[in-house]
Amino acid sequence: MSEFQTKDPYSYFTGLNSYHESEAIPGTLPIGRNSPQVPAFGLYAEKLSGAAFTAPRHLSKQTWLYRILPSTTHRPFEAVSTTDSREAQKFSTVPNQIRWSPFEIDTSADFVGGLKQLAGAGDIQTKNGVAIYIYSCGKSMKETDVFYSSDGDMLIVPQEGDLDVRTELGRLYVRPLEILVIPRGIRYNVALPNGNARGYILEAFSATHFELPELGPIGSAGLANARDFQIPKAEYTDSSETHTLINKFGGNLFRAEQDHSPFDIVGWHGTYYPFKYDLGRYNAIGSISYDHPDPSIFTVLTVPSPIPGTAIADFAIFAPRWLVMEDSFRPPYFHRNCMGEFVGLIKGGYDGKLAGGFNPGGASLHNLMSAHGPDVQTHRKASEEDTSKPQKVGTGSMAFMFEVSYMVGVTEWGLKESPVQQDYVAHSWGGFKKHFKPPQA
Ligand SMILES: [Fe+2]
Repeated sequence: MSEFQTKDPYSYFTGLNSYHESEAIPGTLPIGRNSPQVPAFGLYAEKLSGAAFTAPRHLSKQTWLYRILPSTTHRPFEAVSTTDSREAQKFSTVPNQIRWSPFEIDTSADFVGGLKQLAGAGDIQTKNGVAIYIYSCGKSMKETDVFYSSDGDMLIVPQEGDLDVRTELGRLYVRPLEILVIPRGIRYNVALPNGNARGYILEAFSATHFELPELGPIGSAGLANARDFQIPKAEYTDSSETHTLINKFGGNLFRAEQDHSPFDIVGWHGTYYPFKYDLGRYNAIGSISYDHPDPSIFTVLTVPSPIPGTAIADFAIFAPRWLVMEDSFRPPYFHRNCMGEFVGLIKGGYDGKLAGGFNPGGASLHNLMSAHGPDVQTHRKASEEDTSKPQKVGTGSMAFMFEVSYMVGVTEWGLKESPVQQDYVAHSWGGFKKHFKPPQA
């Protein structure tokens, strides 16, 4: 993308991996103390923790909230319905390569009602695993409905339709080609300002969070730059209207009512907050000599694991870029990987699948050690390419990958009710012929 989507209806701080503070009324934030005996303007002080209190400073995620009523003031939670269980359902863990045609949009649903789990791995209760969802909706959430997940951080990737998201810490307006991260526990409402919406969500259950990857020898800038992340500003509503909290907890939905707005935070400060990023600002880096680099070079955000260099999950994008590698096979190479690779398409086409079948709003899953790579048409074209000339790929398109270190299972909805392409493997790789000619003795 050469154009940046900088026009927004709201104002932001910018920056990631740093401390922020925001106050809707000047003088809300106490000086020095985090929890003064009497906070300004009769507010209550409340702490929101996204990391252990004793986490090292660079991993600490703590935010102080100054709100009209404390979050404790709600009625008991009740299970919405046991049939609405999401992660609790069983996965089919199969080695087959899977590709889905675009997922149907449920125009009768709102963001929460249209949230369907496609795949996942691990365990919520021990904070070890991920879930992959497709969301599709045609209605805004009721203004008095507020959703949050206790299960993990959600990376939301809109594919169609804008999302006007009001979080406890302020508003974020997100369009296709932008991404939104809502950390565990932060409450929000999603409105649809221009109708139907569809997209992908990666939820990470881990105690670690979506972070910028280290840059190593790349240096101090490149890939996603910290300054391009956008953070909400405090905005509050003082209301006594009945609101409904909808909590995803252990994979199930629970509801509780309260007689005040959850959007009553007048000021906040800390390191735990939602943020958005315009994928058009991504600084893609690649080979300028030979070979196709590993796709880790396209990482936007990573959820680190305790193993150095091994992510629980990476979010990578295949943005428009120049390929200049000489005497090299330029598209993604054939491979089998120790990771689970879920790929989606926001817009346009994908340079590894010239034969088609991979369309915006669809997806593919290549599980651990399941072979994949360019289709026959892509392989033929790339084998005949004049690599003495630079080549622009990805113009007008944006594919992305959730690369997770788990064996990914697919839900019953994902396998039986979703548009699985039965001919994917034959269509993409069925036409390869032998060209092997050993030297004659
Ligand atoms: Fe791959």
